[in-house]
Amino acid sequence: MTPDQYAVAGNPVEHSRSPTIHAAFAAQTGQTLEYGRLLCPLDDFEGHIRRFAAEGGKGCNVTVPFKFEAYKLAKTLTPRAQLAQAVNTLRFDADGWAGDNTDGVGLVRDIERNAGRPLKGLSVLLIGAGGAAAGVLGSLIDAGPARICIVNRSRDKAEQLQASHAHLGVPLQAGGLDDAPAGQDVVINATAASLVGAGSPVDARVLKRGGLALDMMYGPKAQAFLDWAARHGAEPRDGLGMLVEQAGEAFHFWRGVRPETQPVLAALRAQL
Ligand code: ATR
Repeated sequence: MTPDQYAVAGNPVEHSRSPTIHAAFAAQTGQTLEYGRLLCPLDDFEGHIRRFAAEGGKGCNVTVPFKFEAYKLAKTLTPRAQLAQAVNTLRFDADGWAGDNTDGVGLVRDIERNAGRPLKGLSVLLIGAGGAAAGVLGSLIDAGPARICIVNRSRDKAEQLQASHAHLGVPLQAGGLDDAPAGQDVVINATAASLVGAGSPVDARVLKRGGLALDMMYGPKAQAFLDWAARHGAEPRDGLGMLVEQAGEAFHFWRGVRPETQPVLAALRAQL
């Protein structure tokens, strides 16, 4: 029997760690599946994944820049995907595709379980208001922090994100990068600033000695931010744990089985 097929769909996908992660989950849980890479042209994401599904694909992860398109293609959405208006996990059910967004829960699990910092009652600074920030804000709110401040280079996008999440019960502030408050317990970089080699888009006063400073990227892209955080006495953390945790949640969405994420994260970190 042919194993069930899954893939990470995006552009680019060649450096994605998702195939390694899902192969480890499959081996660990005894699930028979194959997980590959699906490079989609920028102008034909839909055609590519429809073909993949027609050829027997059971689902895919969706990465940059197609999370908004995937949102539109899903017939049903989990509440968190609806709130984020972005989908990173599609399941090709026979009666219509189901879309989820596991990025936020992945981030929160990494902060709470792997980094050992329950978010309840903490102050959180979310830097950025693009797709990456929108994808995680709902789950950060669910974790019950004391407050969340969203700052962004273009202030209006931070304000839009604040407005779309204002009803969820945690005090939200929004502003430009210079409005970031000092001494935050948890600082999360969800901008693409690291791609241009910038250390941090905000002033170091946002950090707190012993606080957590997490960049959602990993590898060389995250390094400048992590070095900046460590220089100022915060605990730096990259996005590798978030990557593994969001994958664990996607695996559960597809297979109904929850893999152990921590050994997979440890193995991946050892390879980096
Ligand atoms: P993603 O899906 O990775 O979030 P995006 O939706 O294009 O990508 O959003 C990129 C984010 O990085 C935005 O918050 C963007 O700020 P603007 O909304 O003002 O464009 C932010 N960003 C990109 N380059 C940046 C830089 N050099 N300094 C600060 N913020 C930057």
